[in-house]
Amino acid sequence: ATSDASVYAHHTLREIMEQPEVVARALAPRPEIELAAGALRTAGRVFAVGAGTSYHAAMVARYAFAEVAGVDLQPVLASEHDLFLRWMDAGSVVLAISQSGETADVLEAVRAARAKGARIVSIVNVPHSTLERESDLSVNVRAGPEVGVAATKSFTAQLSTLFSMALEAAGRPPLDAERLRQLVTSALSSEGSARAAGERLRDATDVYIVGRGVHYPVALEGALKVKELAYVHAEGLAAGELKHGTLAMVEEGTPVVLVNPGDGTYVDTISNGEEMKARGAFVIGISERPNDLYDLHIPIPEARGLELPIVEVVPLQLLAYYVALARGAEIDRPRNLAKSVTVK
Ligand code: G6P
Repeated sequence: ATSDASVYAHHTLREIMEQPEVVARALAPRPEIELAAGALRTAGRVFAVGAGTSYHAAMVARYAFAEVAGVDLQPVLASEHDLFLRWMDAGSVVLAISQSGETADVLEAVRAARAKGARIVSIVNVPHSTLERESDLSVNVRAGPEVGVAATKSFTAQLSTLFSMALEAAGRPPLDAERLRQLVTSALSSEGSARAAGERLRDATDVYIVGRGVHYPVALEGALKVKELAYVHAEGLAAGELKHGTLAMVEEGTPVVLVNPGDGTYVDTISNGEEMKARGAFVIGISERPNDLYDLHIPIPEARGLELPIVEVVPLQLLAYYVALARGAEIDRPRNLAKSVTVK
């Protein structure tokens, strides 16, 4: 019943709520993942090309591939691929990440990489897309049709698929799909706190979303959701960078979201949050642990390692949705944006 479109006010909310099933489906083993892992094992350089949310998936993948497989994956913004072409050759594998498989910048990057001899492994959601056809190998993330312009379930499906590839390439066991389904369900149960945070941000002009390590690209993705859905200026930052400039922006009431799970980044992110709070910031903490620092706590379940980016992006999506709802924005079809950008 929970995936029945009619019970949700927006496709975007339904797609956020579908994620327990989406993630479990994306984690299921399939022959294409094994083949991709085989290509990665013997690759020289590995690149991951994408735009928008799919680029954020590439950035998260950089941390995952480094940590689980010791692979130095270079994320490449599709529109900035020129710089990287000099290192692409017959030994290279280019992971091309795209929900639609039709993004012009991605297709252009892939064609250029291909001309240099690189192998193209695409990670797509829409079946039979141009990108799928132009790849040596294509892996579908199985998120199902995504109607909302802002990517939500396709992002967590991309992460799940990329993590499966990294683990397979390292000869390590896959993530437990059933456990992830439960973790994401539990992350969704923080909807009430995410909604309260969203309503608190209704009149905000700027929001800073910060995290360290793998939580940094998740913060970037959260900020993108807030901009797209709510038209509120949001900036994702590596928490350690705050003191190098952005701290000057903080005044009484400035909202700051800490992507702050209890892993090795916890203590340092807390101290960055304290610096913001000392200047008057209103601190929203996304963490399984409560902390006096947080003016508002959005709880997430106890998770670890690669589970965390999947789990913690969920409250960020809900937060963005509820800021947008409170502001009366057109959630499924934000102004000026298109689901699939087929022009350069
Ligand atoms: C558009 C969409 C974004 C998306 C980006 C890349 O700008 O509005 O949500 O992240 O394209 O799309 P792709 O289909 O290549 O993942």
